[in-house]
Amino acid sequence: MQEYATFCECKEQKAWKRRFKQSMIPDEFQKANFGNYVTDTQYQREMKKMAADYVNLFRFDTDNEGRKKKIIPPHNFGLIASVGEQRLKELPASDRTEIKNQHNNFGIGKTHLQIAISKILLKAGFRVLVVSDAVFIDDLMQAKRSGDEGEQLNQLLGPALEADVLIWDDIGKSKWTEARETMYYRIINERYRKQMPIVFNSNEDRGTLADKIGYAAASRLIGQCSDEKYKFLMDAEGQDWRLKKHG
Ligand SMILES: Nc1ncnc2c1ncn2[C@@H]1O[C@H](COP(=O)(O)OP(=O)(O)O)[C@@H](O)[C@H]1O
Ligand SMILES: [Mg+2]
Repeated sequence: MQEYATFCECKEQKAWKRRFKQSMIPDEFQKANFGNYVTDTQYQREMKKMAADYVNLFRFDTDNEGRKKKIIPPHNFGLIASVGEQRLKELPASDRTEIKNQHNNFGIGKTHLQIAISKILLKAGFRVLVVSDAVFIDDLMQAKRSGDEGEQLNQLLGPALEADVLIWDDIGKSKWTEARETMYYRIINERYRKQMPIVFNSNEDRGTLADKIGYAAASRLIGQCSDEKYKFLMDAEGQDWRLKKHG
């Protein structure tokens, strides 16, 4: 722990912490951590275990010359829906409510757990970037149109491509357009090539996520969630925490 503390003093890490604070994470997640994530149901227990196992893959090693080296797993970690939003929309209205209730994916703590992951990793000294899909994609599209020879766009893309781990909240929220699909591919493929992880959650399922972000991007994103040893993808469902709390 002492070593971590020294490591995080560096100026660059402070900049990533500042960026985290400015990343428009809603107030309700200020206090979100592993400790206050309630695990009453099997899904909650599995989600939390998967998140904790994932965090444990990030470490620091010391090389022969005593230099610290980050160990960053190549795996992505995803919490998605079993019946995605887009699929629900296509159902006849009479079936929609029932299926939606049976397989609810909203308010089950996906963002809570992933913000918890990001806090631990930031504190440990990793460069973490949290983006929220709708805002991030809008900003990228606007930057792309800005006609400044890519300056604004590069400012946004830089951190997303360089972060040790990119936390992508609500991926696939935005409506599909060809330009957006190209942007998803660019970021996801670049990180895939460098074997740099993405932690994501979505209200879409495996199929509808591909419709939203494109097949090439989705297959890389989801394909990286597992290898022979690990599986870090879950179609999670449960009761909406916000509705439960308010009766
Ligand atoms: N198991 C849980 N324990 C404690 N708080 C929870 C739990 N599940 C959800 N919450 C809280 O409920 C709210 C909605 O959760 P959120 O993470 O936004 O869900 P999702 O991203 O799955 O839609 C947040 O304030 C979150 O902190
Ligand atoms: Mg969420």
